[in-house]
Amino acid sequence: MAAAAAALAPATPLRYKPYSTLRFLSFYSKNLTTPRLSPPLPRRPFQFHSTVPPKRCFCSVVSAALQSGERTKTEFQEKKVCEMGNTVGEFRKKLKIADIKGGPDGGLDRVGQTLVVMGWVRTLRVQSSVTFLEVNDGSCLSNMQCVMNSDAEGYDQVESGLIATGASIWVQGTLVASQGAKQKVELKVDKVVVVGQSDPSYPIQKKRVSREFLRTKAHLRPRTNTFGAVARVRNALAYATHKFFQENGFVWISSPIITASDCEGAGEQFCVTTLIPSSREATDSPVRAIPNTKDGLIDWSQDFFGKPAFLTVSGQLNAETYATALSDVYTFGPTFRAENSNTTRHLAEFWMIEPELAFADLNDDTACATAYLQYVVRHVLDNCKEDMEFFNTWIEKGIIDRLNDVAEKDFVQLPYTDAIELLLKAKKKFEFPLKWGCDLQSEHERYITEEAFNGCPVIIRDYPKEIKAFYMRQNDDGRTVAAMDMLVPRVGELIGGSQREERLEYLENRLDELKLSKESYWWYLDLRRYGSVPHAGFGLGFERLVQFATGIENIRDTIPFPRTPGSAEF
Ligand code: 4AD
Ligand code: MG
Repeated sequence: MAAAAAALAPATPLRYKPYSTLRFLSFYSKNLTTPRLSPPLPRRPFQFHSTVPPKRCFCSVVSAALQSGERTKTEFQEKKVCEMGNTVGEFRKKLKIADIKGGPDGGLDRVGQTLVVMGWVRTLRVQSSVTFLEVNDGSCLSNMQCVMNSDAEGYDQVESGLIATGASIWVQGTLVASQGAKQKVELKVDKVVVVGQSDPSYPIQKKRVSREFLRTKAHLRPRTNTFGAVARVRNALAYATHKFFQENGFVWISSPIITASDCEGAGEQFCVTTLIPSSREATDSPVRAIPNTKDGLIDWSQDFFGKPAFLTVSGQLNAETYATALSDVYTFGPTFRAENSNTTRHLAEFWMIEPELAFADLNDDTACATAYLQYVVRHVLDNCKEDMEFFNTWIEKGIIDRLNDVAEKDFVQLPYTDAIELLLKAKKKFEFPLKWGCDLQSEHERYITEEAFNGCPVIIRDYPKEIKAFYMRQNDDGRTVAAMDMLVPRVGELIGGSQREERLEYLENRLDELKLSKESYWWYLDLRRYGSVPHAGFGLGFERLVQFATGIENIRDTIPFPRTPGSAEF
């Protein structure tokens, strides 16, 4: 029994223990003969009496209870929940399918162990002598194939139709070597319990469904292979982002989401107001309920912040304040743009990573952007192998080679003026005509990186000042600024950045030229009054990075709940 308990313990115990899961499992240990559909989940954190330190992992508790009739112990621990003043137990990582199958031998090292798997049924195949259940818990792409004979405890739930695609189940069995070619191991089921049954109307059945359809089922789409894989790669990219900046001495700054400034000056902000009372009352509010001034304008002094406020389009201006104190900082948070762009690359709500480097120029900026991108791409290739193989097979053939090239090869740099020349000479007809001074369209950006430079990321620098934001540092030629955009295949612009104008006089002149109010940027200008330094930074659209790293065609499939013009469901 001790061996079985050890076998059930996760390989690496963590600092905490899953009290809720312990209770959850002890419920099954007591009720296996009469499975209930809705187990009573704890309302409050599970507590243990301090004199009974719960040092065992939940799996071993269950196995003990199940295998040796040690039920009294489980019940005893449960009883302790009700006592006041107990300390909270330790949390331990739950055993996941990824832990079982993720090792180099695909799980063969655990053959013979008694294991518990909890997840959602992907498919059920009832054959004459045996039933196959594919269970997925989201920890990896692979399902656990569970093989069941009619003598398994709980088999009646197969017969009664309770175990169906979409249902959540708790299943215990012995890990055995699989005869199938698709997996090295499978679970020979001893007991199965339906945790939550699934209505036959479950919309994600085995047949292939389009991504457009799945966007209308965004609450259930993470249960598909594609969206599970996207979520895990997105998570890995976020982790690698923090890892890169932390390892390089950057400090993470939370920039505000509500702001009174328009960083990009493009007027694409969502207003944040309480003048329209609340979401419940909004539809019934008459226009005259909005307070007016004598001149018939909206009286913002009566609004929550006493002036117009908006959702931020970028955390950059705030990041600059901390960069000019802590030297190197980064933000990683949601940003919002009310641009009416119905494209495969635009969202109204997206996440942006914005590093800001003090005592740095545009060369430092491009070097940082390149090192960052190569680092996160390498991280995903090394740590998301199964999901990347999936994308390579089903989403974009060759993506692994493409990303390997990105991680290893040098990027190209090109002044804007040269890029225009290259495009004018291109033997390709563009929809949008081009001349010096124009902003590059997606078709131009993709031609440069995909065709002219054969899939290599390209950094275009020194753009005309007229098409860039007010804060960019003016170059000596007087007509360009120290800006850079990084273009990558399939996506186009992945990164936009610049050296910032650190000279007070130049910055004030630029605000005047653009008819922007110096008063409202008073604090930003102060950074140039008190210890100004050359500094630079960039912004990377996180969903575009997910597109780039997975090959997913439409940006709406890279974020759990996309917000786009006319669509804010879920
Ligand atoms: O080029 P942008 O507008 O730059 C800024 O906002 C700067 N303040 C960044 C900085 O220097 N700190 O936006 C940066 C990136 C773009 O390159 C693109 O990847 C992404 O943000 N982006 C969008 N992603 C999804 N949907 C949209 N509507 C986006 N707009 C920009
Ligand atoms: Mg840009």
